Amino acid sequence: MNLQGKRLVLGMSGGIACYKVAELVRSLKKAGASVQVVMTDAAQHFITAVTMQALSGQTVYDSQWDARIANNMAHIDLTRDADAIIIAPASADFLGKLAHGLCDDLLSTLCMARPAHLPLLAAPAMNVEMWQNPALQRNLRLLQADGVLLAGPDAGAQACGEHGMGRMLEPPDLLQEIEALFMPKLLAGKRMLVTAGPTFEAIDPVRGITNLSSGKMGYAIARAARAAGAEVLLVSGPTALSAPYGVQRINVQSAQQMHDVTLSHIAAQDLFVAVAAVADWRVANSSEQKLKKDAAGKTPQLEFVQNPDILATVAALPQAPYCVGFAAESENLLEYGAQKRARKGVPLLVGNLGPQTFGQDHNSLVLFDADGHKAMGPADKKQLAQDLVLEIAQRFKAQA
Ligand code: CTP
Repeated sequence: MNLQGKRLVLGMSGGIACYKVAELVRSLKKAGASVQVVMTDAAQHFITAVTMQALSGQTVYDSQWDARIANNMAHIDLTRDADAIIIAPASADFLGKLAHGLCDDLLSTLCMARPAHLPLLAAPAMNVEMWQNPALQRNLRLLQADGVLLAGPDAGAQACGEHGMGRMLEPPDLLQEIEALFMPKLLAGKRMLVTAGPTFEAIDPVRGITNLSSGKMGYAIARAARAAGAEVLLVSGPTALSAPYGVQRINVQSAQQMHDVTLSHIAAQDLFVAVAAVADWRVANSSEQKLKKDAAGKTPQLEFVQNPDILATVAALPQAPYCVGFAAESENLLEYGAQKRARKGVPLLVGNLGPQTFGQDHNSLVLFDADGHKAMGPADKKQLAQDLVLEIAQRFKAQA
């Protein structure tokens, strides 16, 4: 995991979203980070320091005058070894203090006293009217000018019963944004289109042919590419996964739809990564109405027609983006992978042995290029996706 060994100061200001931060701490710890929680007085009206201490496994600090720190300088000591400060939830009041350099409690003082290089990421959480208030918006502009990073907020139903912008990001999305802090921005300013998941070829309105692809690898690549600074468009077949935060997703069903959506957006892309397990054939004689069982036991006769090859089509475009293909093979990976890369006309093809990796969280890959092949992994798909995106970014840069 890429948060392994990272030391985070997690500052909590007052807001009902404090209950979500309990969950976030668990995820951060699971991802390998150590988490030093610092709470304001207001935060402790929503969740206790005992809960946060139990979850983080570290003493929680809440006072500038805490005698447990030997030199009594918690505002200095707590950030000197840190890799990042995360403020979650960041209340309107706390953001105001941060914007204006006020420091009247431990958390605001340690933010003020942080080393200049230390990233500070704030996850705003407040009522929609507070979010829209010009004073808050003005403070956000000041914070951004000072290099403070913002994660969210989201729009939706609020704890107060109102609806709109201001919800704190959900813990998995916030975790993604924290991980992104540590990803080199090799794809800043670049656009990447990723296809992911299976396709579904209709037999009739309720039946179809699909495959075992879960979409996990494609989604992990989309997430990692955004973390590396890219603007990502994910064209996804049917999966149970939610869209990664900050990634635009277009849902499709069939290979033909995936082809059409991809081709209509490809001109704007710098990179194309085809991770989807696209059906090679569709049913030529699919039925408009549900097929009924035949009384005499006659079974339906399906006829197939070949689907367009999205990757090969994109790779053959005169202004083709940098193309990366995937291949899941059940045997002879080294031979088939090399052949497939050449056949598809792409500079890089990523192979893995399937179908045993479909739906799993771990995988190992083989990268094929014009010079041969090399192995990557085994590792969890998230880590592999990050390593792969950095590798793709370097190769893209080298050929540009
Ligand atoms: N692909 C595609 N469009 C298709 C079929 C495949 O874009 N109609 C892409 C996949 O997203 C993947 C790569 O091509 O990046 C290889 O897919 P794969 O199914 O392994 O290859 P096939 O072309 O189907 O070759 P084969 O039938 O020989 O396995």
